[in-house]
Amino acid sequence: MPTEIRSAIDFYERHPISADIIKAKLLAARGTLTGITPDELFPHDQDHYGGLDANDALAQRAQIKAGMRVADFCAGLGGPARYLSARYGADVTGIELTPARVRGAAELTALAGLNDRVRIIEGNVMAVPLDDESVDVVVSQEAFLHVPDKPKALTEAHRILKSGGRLAFTDWVAHRPLGKDDAELMWAGMAATNLYDIPAYTTLIEAAGFTVTSVDDLTADWAEILKVRLAMYQTLRGETLAAGTVSGHDAFYESYVRFVELVSDGALGGARFAGVKGVS
Ligand SMILES: C[S@@+](CC[C@H](N)C(=O)[O-])C[C@H]1O[C@@H](n2cnc3c(N)ncnc32)[C@H](O)[C@@H]1O
Repeated sequence: MPTEIRSAIDFYERHPISADIIKAKLLAARGTLTGITPDELFPHDQDHYGGLDANDALAQRAQIKAGMRVADFCAGLGGPARYLSARYGADVTGIELTPARVRGAAELTALAGLNDRVRIIEGNVMAVPLDDESVDVVVSQEAFLHVPDKPKALTEAHRILKSGGRLAFTDWVAHRPLGKDDAELMWAGMAATNLYDIPAYTTLIEAAGFTVTSVDDLTADWAEILKVRLAMYQTLRGETLAAGTVSGHDAFYESYVRFVELVSDGALGGARFAGVKGVS
């Protein structure tokens, strides 16, 4: 297994948000895990910046409608997949690398009663286990930063989309090249691989065969969100250390603090890209 892939799995096996933590919170709040609705999970199961609004922005860009088949690349614990199904009536297949995330997603999806419309399968977005021209939409959120061969993931999205199908995703972008120390820190602490600026990323998407329909620079929004997120991680870290449970690791916290600085300074940031297979 390539080092970049192993590192992403290691990172998410120890991530501070897990299905067990979500279940413990729900159990404490409602006394039982029976009869949980998707809405009750949403405050906990979205591992990206901007929460449910970010899902809606992707759904809009991708023109998701009831009955559509959607693939969610790097689906995590399945929060966005369950949301797109519950709110938009989509049938969603998530592709997720980390076995613990796949298991956690299955548990949460079953708890929310969405097994018939949502499934998260173990796989790598550089070799997607779905047939050619089998889906209407591909989405992804804040995950391609971990994928060493982004052109391959984009080509896979193009392959599995039907003609006229839509792609919408968010990812980290590097507005300026990172210095060696920062690049190493982002890799060691957050499994971030090679990053692109917005024009270079747009070119990659076009090279994979898409017509780009929109590009949104999310950097200013992320700078605000990240300050809150950092405080949340610091609280979680305190709680989990006190409870003696494994959650995250020192390199993660060190790199996260620097990541927040780099986004505030405008060196790193986020962007949302959308495209269509064929001509829009
Ligand atoms: C920041 S989380 C985002 C999860 C989800 N998209 C969400 O918004 O809740 C990134 C996820 O990408 C997954 N991932 C990383 N590299 C991957 C790859 N090559 N193929 C599939 N999943 C991958 C990680 O295991 C992790 O669960």
